[in-house]
Amino acid sequence: MTQTNSNALQSLIWTDNRLDLLDQRLLPEETVYLPLTDVEEVWEAIRHLKVRGAPAIGIAAAYGVLFGSRNVDAGKPQWLAAVNEAAAKLATSRPTAVNLFWALDRMKARAAELADSDLTLEACKEALVIEAIAIQSEDEETNRLIGEHALTLFEDGMGVLTHCNAGGLATAKYGTALAPFYLAKEQGMSLKVFADETRPVLQGARLTAFELHQAGVDVTLICDNMAGMVMSKGWINAVIVGTDRVAANGDVANKIGTYSVAVLAKAHGIPFYVACPLSTIDLNTPSGDLIPIEERDPAEVTEGFGKRTAPGGVKVFNPAFDVTPNEYVTAIITEKGVVRAPFDTNLKKLFEE
Ligand code: MRU
Repeated sequence: MTQTNSNALQSLIWTDNRLDLLDQRLLPEETVYLPLTDVEEVWEAIRHLKVRGAPAIGIAAAYGVLFGSRNVDAGKPQWLAAVNEAAAKLATSRPTAVNLFWALDRMKARAAELADSDLTLEACKEALVIEAIAIQSEDEETNRLIGEHALTLFEDGMGVLTHCNAGGLATAKYGTALAPFYLAKEQGMSLKVFADETRPVLQGARLTAFELHQAGVDVTLICDNMAGMVMSKGWINAVIVGTDRVAANGDVANKIGTYSVAVLAKAHGIPFYVACPLSTIDLNTPSGDLIPIEERDPAEVTEGFGKRTAPGGVKVFNPAFDVTPNEYVTAIITEKGVVRAPFDTNLKKLFEE
């Protein structure tokens, strides 16, 4: 089988002593890898969307923990304290994507286990590097499985709309919501993808349209306010999006505008699918209204990309995410399969199996 996106840009490349991170703010115009070597740089890259997308943020943070602790030679307790301090710092970079906290918790737990073992400090450090690499490589495997499960819901010739970027750039590889498009291409199945441009930061235009187009997937870019129109024309048979956090009841936080797409899909009788790894499901948050929603700089709305498009001093509301209530969600597609309502019981089962 040909791997259609084998030439795709990788968002994160670990090279033993540094993290080469693709600066996603510059796409699609420029391909620039930033060589990161300290925890502050990783924090800044996450905060300012140089790396973005829930799984990619988690992977970057895992490597950031290594930077924050690798120079500590005083002893294992001091090393463990440095791991925890770096994790606490990185946890303040962005609030919504639970994968960030999941990855940091996993790194802290592994470090605690190592510090408690008979291993030397050097061996502990090496083992923690392996843990960060595992977080990245497991994400790739997980996304391929998500893509396989998602593809069972699609048929040849279907039109599928997506919002934001939940693709290879947002993950280790393949993406979550975009994984079925890559797998369909590998299998010779034709899907017509419609990508919302995704105001205000244009992840759909700059990143989704870019990576799908580069891979030879049939993609049509539309402005966010065109989604209803293309649905009314009968061009859309399904919607699939990624997510930053799924609450225990199946409410879904994702890029601002996702909720509007879900409501439009319901009005047109179109299934609305959400694709994510188990690490995005947060059983500790009972419902979507409890998910912290990041608010970002008003300048993203008034002068994004260097041109002023609104009067100076005007009031701006700029939430980066919204919550789609579970009644709009047809199914959540994970590496363990397709989950349908009732989400409160069926999501919990995923973790029991
Ligand atoms: O602000 P961003 O670009 O980090 O938002 C990204 C999204 O909303 C994605 O849809 C989500 O993180 C899933 S990525 C597989």
